[in-house]
Amino acid sequence: MPSQQLSALLAALLVIPQATAQARPQPAAATALRQQSLEFGTAWYPEQWPESRWETDLQMMQDAHMNVVRIAEFAWSTMEPSEGRFEFVWLDRAIALAAKHNMKVVLGTPTAAPPAWLTTKYPDTLRVDENGTRAEHGNRQHFSFTSPTYRRFAIRIAEQMAKHYGHNPNILGWQIDNELAAPSFDPSTRTAWHAWLRHHYGTVAELNRKWATAYWSEAYDTFDEVPMHSTHEHPALLLDWKRFVTDTWIDYVGVQVAVIRSNSAPAQWITTNTMHWFQGFDHYKLHVNLDLAAWDDYYQEGHLDVVRNMVQHDLVRGFKQQNFWVMETQPGFVNWGNVNAMLPPGVVREMAWQAVGHGADAVLYWQWRPAPNGQEEYHGSLLGGDGKPVPVLKEVARTGDEFARAADALRGTEVHADIAILQDYDSHWAVTFQPQTIKYDYETEITNLYRAFGMARPIDLIAPTADLSHYRVVFAPGLNVLPDALAQHLLDYVRNGGTLVLGARSGMKDVDNALQTGGQPGSLLIAALGARVAQYYALDKPQPMLPAGAATAWAEQLETLDAGTRVLMTYGKGNGWLDGAPAAVEHSVGKGHLIYLGATLDAAGMQAFLQAAKLPLPEPLLASIPADVEVMERTSPQHHVWIIENHGQEPRHVDLAQPANNLLASQPTAVKSIDLEPHGVAVLEVVK
Ligand code: GLA
Repeated sequence: MPSQQLSALLAALLVIPQATAQARPQPAAATALRQQSLEFGTAWYPEQWPESRWETDLQMMQDAHMNVVRIAEFAWSTMEPSEGRFEFVWLDRAIALAAKHNMKVVLGTPTAAPPAWLTTKYPDTLRVDENGTRAEHGNRQHFSFTSPTYRRFAIRIAEQMAKHYGHNPNILGWQIDNELAAPSFDPSTRTAWHAWLRHHYGTVAELNRKWATAYWSEAYDTFDEVPMHSTHEHPALLLDWKRFVTDTWIDYVGVQVAVIRSNSAPAQWITTNTMHWFQGFDHYKLHVNLDLAAWDDYYQEGHLDVVRNMVQHDLVRGFKQQNFWVMETQPGFVNWGNVNAMLPPGVVREMAWQAVGHGADAVLYWQWRPAPNGQEEYHGSLLGGDGKPVPVLKEVARTGDEFARAADALRGTEVHADIAILQDYDSHWAVTFQPQTIKYDYETEITNLYRAFGMARPIDLIAPTADLSHYRVVFAPGLNVLPDALAQHLLDYVRNGGTLVLGARSGMKDVDNALQTGGQPGSLLIAALGARVAQYYALDKPQPMLPAGAATAWAEQLETLDAGTRVLMTYGKGNGWLDGAPAAVEHSVGKGHLIYLGATLDAAGMQAFLQAAKLPLPEPLLASIPADVEVMERTSPQHHVWIIENHGQEPRHVDLAQPANNLLASQPTAVKSIDLEPHGVAVLEVVK
């Protein structure tokens, strides 16, 4: 293809914002999702096994109370064994057999694993890494996400599948690709990157102005001179690279979504499976054009980190601000950690119910049975290589039985939170590109807030641009990239009666990752707060805080500019510069309160801050619960369902505020208190 044509194609493919195409789930897909109760199942790879074995597997799944299988996401070479020859008969039979066993199906498009005929005949489809090395066949994710040839084949297989299965009543929905991850640095990406920059800036002079390229003589004469880098480069380039990669993935997914939507029944929803905090693209933007968020929940060292898992579930729920799926989780252990230890007995069940408590409508295990050969022979599974159950299958089957019992009560319920924490990709990226201290970690700051709020208050973890109007309290830790439009949105929330806490490192950068010329946290917020950040300090030692606790990694010396600005906390004696300076300040704005907290705090410091700030936090769902017990709530207009878990190692007794119906008892029974064994779970219904 002549290069001009290529660039026109890529420009057409990549620079038109796709996100607006289907900004909301199609109504029928949304309804289908709401009507779902609890799905329970596994990844299954019929293409890896003789057909004579399929029915045995499906019967065993059914016996384990499973009702859904995800299939085909790596089966491209079986579905299209040679170019343009499609073979779906085997898949028809697998889906029909699944239906016979009351198992619904999620179909994956197989584009994470192109067949050898494709990459051999069209080597331009192969991914090139940042060092310029082209991938070879024999692994997965070895495709270039900008290759026009690859797009053609990816669209065609997705279209063929949709034409074939788009009206099959046993197909619940679609998963596009699998764990989108690695960008490519090949020539077609370079062309697309330059087209993206041209579209974004119009003229190279504008790029030079925004990026301030007089610095180090970095000025560009043409867009084509701008290199492709993902680390160790100019911070504006790095941020734009992430935005370009995001738009490219949106487009990559979008073309598959388009052919599936136009060839399928509206009730079939579309998702992709993501990896919690993965920083490769902006997940909020990617999910605009998807009906459902889904993620893969793994703990490689065999120790569940309960709070981290809460945060990750809430993060994924926030992608679309609706219930989500756990598309994959480990039946005990994985094969890609340093020590792939097994989760202790009870924890696989504990994890499944914790997911539901945070808004999951499905939990699927990866995988049913290890492939007879291949890279993942050692990964945990529900059957062994011999096709016989492994010990954890009993625990999984028990969980499936419980899901079935609680399904009706959970149908149509959602998590409702009065507290929001804001999470922002631009900001996360910006502080990662220029960390200034290895002690500051964006995810840890968010996780520490969760720890401070305890395990009995629902929290939403959402994008800063989301509608904030119904939250009592909004926290924005490290909202580093804070352009005026966003500041205005936050101030509107506060003026209308909200309480906003901006955490350390907030408002330092504008949209181009440049320092705010009006100072930190930006002129609009400085005016509203009556205070500014006079200087920031990366701490090599903790800085004592008054009245209590210590600053850990980062501390900002605040300066008040207005008589109405109230100082909530100050620094004690430490690095000298900070000693006695304001560390947290508050100002009334309209009907609400704007607070700036300039330090990352240890647990004692955070409790002191919460007291000093007198935040209108909601009461916990249950008062006086043991520290290792988590209380989760899902609600519908008619009732609440509480999921209570003992994450500790000792038995725990929990008194309930009102009688509730124990949904996991063999006969639903009214209870006023519950006793939980270590890793124990109770699921209770409270009628309003
Ligand atoms: C990811 C992939 C799966 C499998 C698991 C193993 O989540 O999506 O195909 O490789 O990891 O943990």
